[in-house]
Amino acid sequence: MKTLIEKLASSHSLELQEYEFLIKNYNDEAAKSLRKLADKTRREIYGNKIFVRGLIEISNICRNDCFYCGIRKSNKNCQRYRLTPEEIISCSDEGYELGFRTFVLQGGEDNFFTDEILGDIIREIKSRHSDCAVTLSMGERSCESYKFLRDCGADRYLLRHETADKEHYSKLHPSSMSYENRIECLKNLRELGYQTGCGFMVGSPYQTEKNLAQDLKFIETFKPDMCGIGPFIPHKDTPFKDFRAGTAELTCYLLSIIRLIYPPVLLPATTALGTIHPTGRELGILSGANVVMPNLSPVNVRKKYELYDNKICTGEESAQCRDCLNNRMKKIGYEVVTSRGDIKKQ
Ligand code: SAM
Ligand code: FES
Repeated sequence: MKTLIEKLASSHSLELQEYEFLIKNYNDEAAKSLRKLADKTRREIYGNKIFVRGLIEISNICRNDCFYCGIRKSNKNCQRYRLTPEEIISCSDEGYELGFRTFVLQGGEDNFFTDEILGDIIREIKSRHSDCAVTLSMGERSCESYKFLRDCGADRYLLRHETADKEHYSKLHPSSMSYENRIECLKNLRELGYQTGCGFMVGSPYQTEKNLAQDLKFIETFKPDMCGIGPFIPHKDTPFKDFRAGTAELTCYLLSIIRLIYPPVLLPATTALGTIHPTGRELGILSGANVVMPNLSPVNVRKKYELYDNKICTGEESAQCRDCLNNRMKKIGYEVVTSRGDIKKQ
């Protein structure tokens, strides 16, 4: 293990089998040494600065039916909502006042958000707040659509690849969705000049250690600007309701490894990590993450954007979420900064 960890830290690359070995042989000592190396690597680039993104959950209406997701179209118990363009813009205004300089518009694949409507929203946010970055996380769209939205001013796009194994992908999604299309979308986004984010769930149903090794190899080759990973957490109204949640330990272990694979990557300590462990986001930062994403959605819709059971931050006002995270970071010796927080490629 020690030799592998040293190889990873110096060459930022391992063979697929070596990644698998590292995962299969998880132990506290290895986790500790990876955490230390990841923290050092991150500090060399970003110091003790943590970037912040204001998350606006714009709609929970989705045409897809991913087996793991609480807002899948077949979930009849989900109370659907959609923010109006005015509400979205007003969330960004409120966020701007609170110091946010990046807004993430995230939602289900909702047909209401045509290119024209979404494009107008992006243009309006960018014209009101020209020093801000707009990140989209709106799922799979055509290359033309991604191009149009980029031309409207979108800077970044988050689209988790979910798993880098085609067979595993088909166990998590209905046959209407394909691994090939997901990867094609990621490549298109990158070519269009978006800062592009991929990612996956840790401990998703049917996931093997080899699958996780494949995810790491994918990250090593794709070199995403951002990488969102968080534990899978079951949702009571999905086909995966009886599966076990992923663990904070393994998620943090993988965060450290990802930091070492691609040192400048923007790596969030996710809400899902904070949901399965009371100090999950702190542990994520200590393991090598450098981004937090407080919720800016209007409080009256927050509970409805329920991707998994017991999601945290559903009762807090935007300012409370910001203060809460600022304090949590301060307590462990990190400082939340309000810059746009672009990737620093060396
Ligand atoms: N529709 C967009 C998309 O597909 O990229 C954005 C919203 S989608 C709900 C955001 C992410 O939530 C997914 O990529 C998935 O990894 C994560 N997610 C969904 N259900 C989850 C669950 N039960 N546990 C943990 N994460 C989950
Ligand atoms: Fe939302 Fe703590 S981050 S309440």
